Amino acid sequence: MSARPDFGASAREGWQRAQAVIGQGAAAIDTPALVIDLDAMERNLARMADFARSKGLRLRPHAKMHKSAELARLQMAHSAVGVCVQKTDEALALAHAGVSDIYISNEVIAPAKLARLAQAVHALPTQFSIAVDSALGIARLAEALQQAGVTGPAVIDVFVEIDVGHGRCGVAPAQVLALVQQVMAQHNLRFAGLQAYHGSAQHQRSVAERDAALAASESTVRQTLDALTAAGITVPLVTGAGTGSFVREAGSGLWGELQAGSYLFMDGDYAANEADPGAPAFEHALFIKSQGMSVSAAHAVCDAGHKSHAIDSGLPSVWLPSGLAYANGGDEHGVLSVVDETGELPALGETVWLVPGHCDPTVNLHDFAIGLRGGLDAGQVERLIAIDARGALG
Ligand SMILES: Cc1ncc(COP(=O)(O)O)c(C=O)c1O
Repeated sequence: MSARPDFGASAREGWQRAQAVIGQGAAAIDTPALVIDLDAMERNLARMADFARSKGLRLRPHAKMHKSAELARLQMAHSAVGVCVQKTDEALALAHAGVSDIYISNEVIAPAKLARLAQAVHALPTQFSIAVDSALGIARLAEALQQAGVTGPAVIDVFVEIDVGHGRCGVAPAQVLALVQQVMAQHNLRFAGLQAYHGSAQHQRSVAERDAALAASESTVRQTLDALTAAGITVPLVTGAGTGSFVREAGSGLWGELQAGSYLFMDGDYAANEADPGAPAFEHALFIKSQGMSVSAAHAVCDAGHKSHAIDSGLPSVWLPSGLAYANGGDEHGVLSVVDETGELPALGETVWLVPGHCDPTVNLHDFAIGLRGGLDAGQVERLIAIDARGALG
C-alpha cells in the first residue's frame, strides 16, 4: 500500500494556528472560534465556590459541560471535591488527562463500557464513582470490576438514582431499598448515597415554577431517606442540582453535594431564567467569535452557523455590537439585522461576538477553546484549552 500524505492534519494545523496564537490580541483570532473570557469565567468559578463553602456543602461541578481536564482541575483547585460526567468515555478522557476524582452521574449498562471503566479503575489513580438504577446495572458493574481483577473492598462508590420529577432515569422511592441492599452485598462496591437531579426544572423560567418543581423533589428525597432509615440504612450523601436549581437544593438540608455545571460559562438559555435572589450573579464567559462576511442593505451575514454553536436551546444572541439580532442562516452562516436605534450592521470583516444558547453541545463542536485575558475587545490570548472529551459519547 502506498503511504497517503495526511493533508487533513497539516491543513488542520494551519487553521488552528491562524485561529489562536498565544499572546496575540483578540482582534487577530480567526473565526468562527470558541472563546472563553477567562476573567468572567474565574469570577463565576469563585462565586460558586464561595456559595458552596458558605452553605457548608460539597461542590462537584458537572464537567459534561466543558469536557476539559484543565477546567476540571481548575474547579478542583477552587474547592470542588471532584467533577461529574455523564458518559463513560468522558470519564476516561478526563481520567487519562489527570483528573483525580470523577463521578459518572448516569447509568452505564453496556458490558463493553463497564469493561473499559473497570480497566481504568484498575490502572489509573483516579477515584471513580457511578450512578445506578437497576439490578442488572449493579450486577454488571460488580462483574466487570471482578473481571478486571478489581476485587478489593469497596473500590468504587455507587449512588442509587431516584427520579425526583424529571421522568428520565432513576427509580421510585419504593424501589430504592432493594437496589441499595444489592449494592451493599457486593464486596467491590460501596453504597455512597442517592443521586437526585431534576433536569427539567432547571430551565423553567420563573423562580416560582422552579421552587414548585424542587419542592416536589425534596419530598421524594425525604420519603426515600425515611424508608432507608426505617430499614436501618444510613445514607452518606445526597448529590444533585444544576445551575437553575442549586439554591433550592442547598437550602433544603437534604442535599450534601451540588452538581451545577453551566454556571461556569452561563449560556443564553440560563440567562433567560428569572434570576434566583439567593444565587450569585453569573456572567457570560463563553462566546463564539465571528465576523461579517457579506453585507446588503437589509442585513449582514456572519460566518458562524450551527456547525459552530448548538441551537437546541435557541439561536445565539449577539453580544457585540449591540442592537443586532441573529437569525439562522444554516450550517455556516448567521443573518444579522438591526433591532433598535443602537444597532448598525457590521462591516465586512468586523468582529461579531455571539453568546451560544446552550454551552454543553456548543463546546462539543470544538477541539479547543481560546482563553482570552483582558476582555473581548482588548484582550490577549492567554492559553488554549483542550476539549479533551470532545466527541466522547459512549
Ligand atoms: C445529572 C446532572 N447533574 C447536574 C447537571 C448540571 O446541570 P447544569 O449544567 O445545567 O448546571 C446535569 C446537566 O444536565 C446533569 O445531567
